[in-house]
Amino acid sequence: MNKIFLLLILCLVSVGESRAASIAAPQDYGKVIIANYSERAGLAPVVFNHWVHRARYTCRLCHVDIGFAMAKGATSITAAANKKGLYCGACHNGKRAYKGKIIFASCSGTTSHKNAACERCHSLKKSSAREREF
Ligand code: HEC
Ligand code: HEC
Ligand code: HEC
Repeated sequence: MNKIFLLLILCLVSVGESRAASIAAPQDYGKVIIANYSERAGLAPVVFNHWVHRARYTCRLCHVDIGFAMAKGATSITAAANKKGLYCGACHNGKRAYKGKIIFASCSGTTSHKNAACERCHSLKKSSAREREF
């Protein structure tokens, strides 16, 4: 009985350790990979970083007013919705500015316009696509 208990404790401890080891760096805290539709459309999945956004906006703005779910992939973001000014497109519409700088636009809705601008968001495994360093 005692041996089984000890084994259980050891298992729990090693799970805890491997979790800790898998957390890479502060810029990866709150990184969300959104991958419901991208690959089917021939694009890389979207990497959303909380850090770049949290520095500028409150949780409430995105999770209450804009309506992003607090669960990875649960929002069902489409190119058409972004284009209509919902979700990422509420800000990333190529018109809205943050401190005087135009925020780059999101999806065009057709992959025939696929270019480097798309890869700023559709960026999984395309690390060169980013402008901002943590
Ligand atoms: C600029 C918008 C934005 C801001 C600001 C923001 N979030 Fe998020 N958050 C998102 C998006 C987008 C997702 C992914 C939703 C999806 O995939 O459907 C997300 C997902 C999450 C998740 C789920 C993560 C997971 O892996 O399942 C949590 C928890 C969360 N946010 C908490 C917060 C908290 C707490 C704050 C404030 C400190 C915050 N968010 C600020 C946009 C934002
Ligand atoms: C509330 C407004 C807002 C929303 C909503 C929002 N963003 Fe942003 N995002 C910004 C601003 C402002 C910046 C900084 C832009 C700049 O400096 O050019 C930014 C920066 C980024 C960057 C950094 C680009 C780089 O080159 O470093 C990425 C990627 C990004 N957003 C993706 C997303 C995605 C994906 C979503 C939707 C899931 C989203 N954002 C929703 C406002 C927003
Ligand atoms: C500001 C961030 C952002 C940029 C820039 C962006 N997208 Fe998207 N796009 C998203 C998000 C978030 C999703 C949802 C991803 C998923 O669930 O796989 C998405 C999904 C898509 C989809 C699949 C969903 C659907 O409706 O079929 C297509 C196609 C698409 N984007 C096209 C593009 C094209 C083309 C560009 C470049 C002109 C682009 N996107 C640039 C954020 C962005």
